[in-house]
Amino acid sequence: RHFTNARNDLADLISSPLRSGFAHPLSRSWHREREITKSMFILPVFVSDIDDEESPIPLLTDIPRLGLSKLIPYLQKLVNLGLRSVILFGVLGDKLNPPCKDATGTAADDPKGPVIRAIRSIGAHFPSLFIITDVCLCEYTNHGHCGIFSSAHGDDKVSTDNNASVTRIADIALAYAQAGAHCVAPSDMNDGRIHAVKSKLIAAGLGERVLLMAYSAKFKSCLYGPFRTAAGSTPSYGDRATYQLPCHGGGLARRALVRDINEGADVIMVKPAGSCLDVVFQAKEIGKGIPVAAYQVSGEYAMIRAGAEAGVFDLKTAAFESVEMILRAGANIIISYFTPAFLGWLEA
Ligand code: PBG
Ligand code: ZN
Repeated sequence: RHFTNARNDLADLISSPLRSGFAHPLSRSWHREREITKSMFILPVFVSDIDDEESPIPLLTDIPRLGLSKLIPYLQKLVNLGLRSVILFGVLGDKLNPPCKDATGTAADDPKGPVIRAIRSIGAHFPSLFIITDVCLCEYTNHGHCGIFSSAHGDDKVSTDNNASVTRIADIALAYAQAGAHCVAPSDMNDGRIHAVKSKLIAAGLGERVLLMAYSAKFKSCLYGPFRTAAGSTPSYGDRATYQLPCHGGGLARRALVRDINEGADVIMVKPAGSCLDVVFQAKEIGKGIPVAAYQVSGEYAMIRAGAEAGVFDLKTAAFESVEMILRAGANIIISYFTPAFLGWLEA
């Protein structure tokens, strides 16, 4: 009773007793649950099958498409700045070199394809760089979808053969792991892929060495546009609505997170990041200790760059804000095209 009165007196005195808690730079820093560090960042890298390619990507300013001979010098500069991890995406061909795409995405795990060669080369040059490979089919299939189709398909119905797709995804993941990837990250969104990949890794004796990062809460989003231009993975018809989660599907996202954890995920991912901070927060709760990765996708990067370009805000300030807020929501790991910039901005 007495205590309640004291509180009321205090409320008369000051309406919102917050400022005293963050007036000093040090007291401000105490409110941060996670410090931004270089080791949180994963850099997406587009590896072309044209060895000497080095070309800009529309809307992904400062992020190049690189052939194998350009990859090592590019990464060397970033490793010197403190880069710890990359996630690799293979890219086939350009206008002059028509890509060799087919129904089952044969090029994905071709030993002479871009990803397997890049894993070996990066592993040999940078033994302490953590190599993640995105595992999907859309960059390698002639239809640009993330799975395999069992029969004829039309614009109205995009339905992949789940079992065939999952088997293929697991084979590709195993090939990447055997080539030396430290982590495989299936992004295809077929049901049961985490179990299939984990089982195959364990059966091959790689269960204890290779980390499995699940693109668990991956929403269908227009924010993947610049990526698809970069990777040449835009579907030739239809969209990904039957396998990537609907924006409104919070329950589906929670179930996907639980499901992937039960199937053996070592890290769970939420994607996009900035528009899904509620899901990042839930992933942290649901995961009960499993690290949560947030993918700040190509469209988010392009929007922030465009905003800065238009004078809406300062680029560095906006980039820091975006990452601080992703961390506040509960992420431990950030996949971002701003990684090179942060390596420059952050202290050693
Ligand atoms: C492949 C894949 C995509 C992204 C990551 N892995 C594209 C898609 O699902 O269409 C998007 C990343 C980005 O936009 O930066 N399935
Ligand atoms: Zn895909």
